Amino acid sequence: MRGARIVGTGRELPPRVVKNEELTKLMDTTDEWIVQRTGIRERRYADPGVGTSHLGAAAARKAIDKAGITVNDIGLIVFATLSPDYFFPGCAVLVQEQLGMPTVGALDVRDQCTGFVYGLSVAESYVKGGFHDYVLVIGSEIHSRGLIFTTAGRDTAVIFGDGAGAAVVGPAEEGKGILSSHLHSEGKYAGELCLEEPGFLRDPWITHEMIDAGRHSPKMNGRYVFTHAVRRFPEVTREALEKNGLTLADLSLLIPHQANLRITNAVGAALQLPEGKVFSNIERFGNTTAASIPIALDECVEQGRIREGDIVCLASFGSGFTWASALLRW
Ligand code: UT7
Repeated sequence: MRGARIVGTGRELPPRVVKNEELTKLMDTTDEWIVQRTGIRERRYADPGVGTSHLGAAAARKAIDKAGITVNDIGLIVFATLSPDYFFPGCAVLVQEQLGMPTVGALDVRDQCTGFVYGLSVAESYVKGGFHDYVLVIGSEIHSRGLIFTTAGRDTAVIFGDGAGAAVVGPAEEGKGILSSHLHSEGKYAGELCLEEPGFLRDPWITHEMIDAGRHSPKMNGRYVFTHAVRRFPEVTREALEKNGLTLADLSLLIPHQANLRITNAVGAALQLPEGKVFSNIERFGNTTAASIPIALDECVEQGRIREGDIVCLASFGSGFTWASALLRW
């Protein structure tokens, strides 16, 4: 079987920078609390009229250009988001239209922070199996319209930001590129980090009361998520290395989902990795859920943090709970 590798990456961050200071005017919080507890100093918010699909399509255009191919070469679009433009249809079909692509398959992935790694595993399988030569994977979010900007919503409002990242997966020699993907879930924890309502479990599925109570905004048991995350990130990183007969000493760079700087630091410490081997950009973008890994990957490529032959691990944990890793030989 042939291999599959990432042949192009791209990112799109909205121009509007929102510093912690701006949030302190809206809710009872401080720059010091946000920096100490999360490592975040600023994030981006999308302008009115810009949707998750638009950010995703812009990131995708750059990834396709960098891959040196055209939209006509893409055989499948995989779009990961928890903040779609519409409840349905998904965002992948909107990207097909916005990029003027042929009538290719368009798949939306609903695995929140783990969505990009889940989506990448789909691309890996299609390319390795020879079903498509090029698959486009996008992670994109607009959180800023779903947060509550009062003290009642401060635990999530200070964390999340908007942005998008994309990657084109194409064919490679066997043993190069995406070596393996490892996906996990534990649905008994679905209620610990979710957007509960509106939803079709309820009848009627949407009411004024839901909105008045703010239940249309994310609900998060922060400490609980934190403790699971610091266990699952190292576990799934080790799993990827072991599966390929490699050790932590072989790892050139770990790119974790940017959940919280304290989580990233705890993961680095648990794996005894030097600081330079764990990438972080949460300071500038906050937590962008499905977009955080492809944004980080694109920055790493641009900054020359990844060189040919490097072993790179992408690892994620989030709502579901879901967690996953992908091991790459660049
Ligand atoms: O992307 C994957 C999914 N999400 C995550 O991975 C997030 C995981 N969790 C976290 O990052 C952290 O739990 C948080 C950053 C959300 C919170 O940090 P924490 O150190 O776990 O704080 P806490 O929830 O235990 O709250 C400590 C205190 C509370 O006050 P009391 O009860 O001690 O009086 C909170 O009400 O901090 C309060 N607090 C805030 N204070 C100022 C919560 N949010 C804020 C805020 N500003 N924004």
